[in-house]
Amino acid sequence: MTKDIYILGIETSCDETAVAIIKNGQDIVANVVASQIESHKRFGGVVPEIASRHHVEQITLVLEEAFAKSELSWDDITAIAVTEGPGLVGALLVGVNTAKALAFAKQKPLVGVHHIAGHIYANQLQQPLMFPLLALIVSGGHTELVIMKAHGQFEVIGETRDDAAGEAYDKVARMLNLPYPGGPMIDKLAHEGQATIDFPRAWLDPDSFDFSFSGLKSSVINTIHNAKQRGEQLENADIAASFQESVVEVLTKKTYDAAIQYDVSQVIVAGGVAANKGLRTSLTKAFEHTNIPLAIPPIHLCTDNAAMIAAAGTIAYEQGKRAGMDLNANPSLPLEQ
Ligand code: KG4
Ligand code: ZN
Repeated sequence: MTKDIYILGIETSCDETAVAIIKNGQDIVANVVASQIESHKRFGGVVPEIASRHHVEQITLVLEEAFAKSELSWDDITAIAVTEGPGLVGALLVGVNTAKALAFAKQKPLVGVHHIAGHIYANQLQQPLMFPLLALIVSGGHTELVIMKAHGQFEVIGETRDDAAGEAYDKVARMLNLPYPGGPMIDKLAHEGQATIDFPRAWLDPDSFDFSFSGLKSSVINTIHNAKQRGEQLENADIAASFQESVVEVLTKKTYDAAIQYDVSQVIVAGGVAANKGLRTSLTKAFEHTNIPLAIPPIHLCTDNAAMIAAAGTIAYEQGKRAGMDLNANPSLPLEQ
């Protein structure tokens, strides 16, 4: 009988302090997330210095809670996986240094994980990945289409040229005086309104899988200002519905076209914006008439968590990847390496 592999994952790249323990790369034994959203809300976005301080305060508590929930001890842990980048450098450093200290003190192997690889591997906690696959990653910092031909191999075929999808959501939410994070609020409002405003869709070059959301964001600002000058009052719900329709239409069409062109065996969606109900519905509709299975993780695995880092870390561990005590936070770590 082969021995079970238990990977302890640590994630602190943005505003969630998270620790998880995963068995054999797919079973969640413990998954603890301490969100800092309340602390950043009054500033309308994540304040890096505040994020780092919160991570320092929370990391030990979250670690203890993960062990308490798992009913495991350090003897059971095979290795430690930690997000090394990309993200906020001060925030990443808390996770990386915690992981290094634990690896040294407990004499465990250490594995560095790319945050986006983590988001992709959140899907592995639901079902095995099938290659070649296409991943649409949509988060606060990333909008990417990635082809994977095997575990741990990533080829970026499209990415945003300006704002990330989640960033556009958060900025438009701010214009509508909605609290941070704006994505869930706009998603909710969008379902209460009608897409009556014809916002632009940035298709870019016909065969490009790149994205652009800054023109859409400017168009939303201009529409709101122009209406104000004319003394008209636009419904926030209609602005949200129209904005969401534009984002979702572009994300869906480019994902669909890429899946057909690359003849993939599976399409997976990852990142905080994958929690969006409009996007989930639209992608489901687009792929239901194809023979390409679509996988979208449950909402709590779409937003930042450490279970996804431990899942990606298990693959890296099995592939023999190891980090040394010189592991450093890398805020712009590339995915393809
Ligand atoms: O992956 P994530 O938790 O953190 C990053 O790595 O960035 O993604 C956070 C982003 C935020 O921009 C948030 O507004 C967005 O995901 N988001 C949503 C929804 N839930 C979270 N955007 C649209 N609709 C949602 N339901
Ligand atoms: Zn993320």
